[in-house]
Amino acid sequence: MTTDVKERPVKKVKVEAPLAVLAELSHRCPLQCPYCSNPVNLEKGSNELDTATWCRVIDEAVAMGVHQVHFSGGEPTVRKDLEQLTQHASDAGLYTNLITSAVLLNEARVNKLADVGMNHIQISFQDSEATNADRIGNFKGGHKKKLEVAGYVRKAGLPLTVNAVMHRQNLHHLEEVIDMAVALDAERLEVAQVQYYGWALKNRAAFMPTYEQLAWATDVVESARKRLKGTLVIDYVVPDYYARRPKVCMGGWGRRFLNINPAGLVLPCHAAESIPSLKFDSVKDHSLEWIWENSEAFNKFRGTDWMPEPCRSCDRREIDWGGCRCQAFALTGDESATDPACDLSPQHEKIFGMASKEAHEKPPEFIYRRIG
Ligand code: SF4
Ligand code: FES
Repeated sequence: MTTDVKERPVKKVKVEAPLAVLAELSHRCPLQCPYCSNPVNLEKGSNELDTATWCRVIDEAVAMGVHQVHFSGGEPTVRKDLEQLTQHASDAGLYTNLITSAVLLNEARVNKLADVGMNHIQISFQDSEATNADRIGNFKGGHKKKLEVAGYVRKAGLPLTVNAVMHRQNLHHLEEVIDMAVALDAERLEVAQVQYYGWALKNRAAFMPTYEQLAWATDVVESARKRLKGTLVIDYVVPDYYARRPKVCMGGWGRRFLNINPAGLVLPCHAAESIPSLKFDSVKDHSLEWIWENSEAFNKFRGTDWMPEPCRSCDRREIDWGGCRCQAFALTGDESATDPACDLSPQHEKIFGMASKEAHEKPPEFIYRRIG
C-alpha cells in the first residue's frame, strides 16, 4: 500500500471535502437488470479490494470530513465482510447506508447489520407486480424475497427507502408501487428513471416511455405527494430526455461525491468509466484526499472553466454545472459537450426526436448480461 506518492506534480486546487462516498464493494450481482448503469466491462471478484484496504479508505474519508458512506455495487451483500466494514464505518462516525437488491439477505443478517451500526437500508424494486418484476431483474422469486426483507428491515427498526426504477415496461404500475412503499412502511420512495449509460444504453429502446406516459406519471406523483404528506417522501425526477434543463448530476462533477469502484479506482460518478478518455487513480496508489484534490479525472470538469457555449455564459452554469458528463458522452461522443438534456444544447431536438420515436415503437427484447 502506498499513499501520497510524488511521481506526478501535485496541482493545488481548493476544493471542499466531499459529503459522501459511494463504496461499490463488488460488481457481482445475482440480478441482471437490463438498465444496469455499471460499466459494460465489470471488475471481477478477484480484483476486489480487501477488507483492510476498505477500512483504511474509510478512515481516510473520515479524516477528509466525509459524513456518509453508501455501500453499493453490483450487490454489496455478496461481500462477507459487509458487517465488518459497516462496524468500522460506524465506529469512525460515518452515517452508513446500504443500497441492495435484498435477494441475498435474511432476517439474521439484517439484524446483524443493524447491530453493527447500519443506519439505513435502500431496497431496489423492479415493479409492484411479481411476474414482471422477476422478468425485469431476471431472477425468479426475487420480488417475494424483497418484500420479506423489507419487513425484516422495519422489524429491526431501520428506516427503509424503496428504490423503483420506472420505465415504459412498468410505469403503468406506478400507483401500485406507491401503495407498496406505504404498505412496507418505507419513509422514502425514489421514483428513479433509467439513466442511459453503461449497460442501460444497449436497452434504451426497451425502456423509453412516451412523453404522454411521463406526463401521467408526474400527475400521479404530484397527487400522491399531497395525499401522503407526513407518511411517505417521494423523490421524482423527470427523465432527462424529456426535460428542459439537465439534472444536477452528482451535485456537480467533483463537488460533493466520490465513488470507489470494486478494484479501488476513484471515480467522480458511478458511470464515469464509460468515458474512455478519463484516467482514474486508485486508492492502492494514493490517499483518498490526494485523489480528490489532484486526480486528472476529477479536475477535468470541476468548476466552469471547461465549459463550452452555451453553458459558459449561461446563468445556470453554477446551478446544474452543465449537466451530466456521462450522458453528454453517451449521446454526442464528446464528454465536454453541453448535456443534450438541456434544450439550449444544439443536439437537444435531434435526441428528443430519437427518444420519442423509440418510445412509440414496439419495445425490443431485453438484452441481459451475466454479472459475476
Ligand atoms: Fe445548464 Fe449549460 Fe443548459 Fe445553461 S446551457 S442550463 S449551464 S446545461
Ligand atoms: Fe457521470 Fe452524470 S452519471 S456525470
